[in-house]
Amino acid sequence: MTTQNAFRLDDKTAVVTGAAAGIGRCIAETFADVGARVVVADIDLDAARAVAEAIVAGGGQARAVKVDVSNEGEVAALFDAALAAYGSLDVLVNNAAIFPKRPFLEVDTEFWDRLQAVNLRGTFLCLRECILRMKERGGGAIVNISSVSSMQAVVHHNATYNASKAGVNSLTRTTALEFGGDGIRVNAVLPGGIPTPGARAASAAIELKGPILSPGRVPLGGMGGVEDIANAALFLASPAARYITGQLLAVDGGFLIS
Ligand SMILES: NC(=O)c1ccc[n+]([C@@H]2O[C@H](COP(=O)([O-])OP(=O)(O)OC[C@H]3O[C@@H](n4cnc5c(N)ncnc54)[C@H](O)[C@@H]3O)[C@@H](O)[C@H]2O)c1
Repeated sequence: MTTQNAFRLDDKTAVVTGAAAGIGRCIAETFADVGARVVVADIDLDAARAVAEAIVAGGGQARAVKVDVSNEGEVAALFDAALAAYGSLDVLVNNAAIFPKRPFLEVDTEFWDRLQAVNLRGTFLCLRECILRMKERGGGAIVNISSVSSMQAVVHHNATYNASKAGVNSLTRTTALEFGGDGIRVNAVLPGGIPTPGARAASAAIELKGPILSPGRVPLGGMGGVEDIANAALFLASPAARYITGQLLAVDGGFLIS
C-alpha cells in the first residue's frame, strides 16, 4: 500500500454520530472525500439530510439516519441501517455529545443524568452495537471524540461534562484491550478549543469565569479548526494507524503540555 493510499477509506462504510454540525460534519465530509460511504447520523434529521445531500452533490457517497445516541433501540437500528444500505461496517466515529455548563452546586440529578445519557451511555451503546457487528465481520476502526477537559478541569461549571469525557477515555482503552484480538482498533481524539455551533452556544449560555482556553496557554496559539480534528480522526480510522489502538490523541495546539 502506498503512503497516500494508507490514508484513504475507499469502499469502507463509516458511521459518524453527531454529523449534522460542527466537528462531526467535517469528519463526515473528510471521510467522504477519501472514498468512504458515510452514514451521517444525528438527532437532527433535517440537518443530517442536508449534510448527506451536500456530500452526494460533491460526488461522494452518504446517507442520513436519525438517531438519539442515548436510545438503545435507535442505536441498534442505526447500525442495522448502515449494514442494510452499504453491506459493511468498517469505521465508527463517536462524536455526538452535549455540553451545557452549570455551576457544580446547581447540578441536579436530572442535569447529570441527561448529559451522561448522551455523552457516556451514548458512547457505550454505539460501541456495543457497533463492536457486536464489526466482530462478526472481521474487525474495524473506532474513534471516540473526547476532550482535553477529560484530562484537566480547563473551565468552570463543567464537572458533569468532564466526568463524561473521562469515562469516554476509559471506554476507549478498555474496549481497545478487549477487542484487539478481533481486529477492532479503538482510539480517541481529544480536541482543544474548536469554534462550532455547539461550543458557541455553550459559552454564550452562561457567564464563564475567564476564557475557555486562554491563548497564552496554547503553545501553537489560538483555536483549532474542525478540520484539525477531522484529519486526526481520519488518521486513526485509516489503515495508516493499523498498529495503533487504545490511544488518546490530544489535538489542542499543545494546551495539555503547557
Ligand atoms: N467544539 C469544541 O471546542 C470541543 C472541544 C472538545 C471536545 N469537543 C467534542 O467534539 C464533539 C463535537 O462537538 P461540536 O462542538 O462539533 O458540537 P455541536 O454541538 O456543534 O454538534 C454536535 C452534533 O451532535 C448532535 N447531537 C446532539 N445530541 C445528540 C444525540 N443525543 N444523538 C445524536 N446526535 C446528537 C447535534 O444535533 C449536533 O449536530 C463532541 O463530542 C464534543 O464534546 C468539542
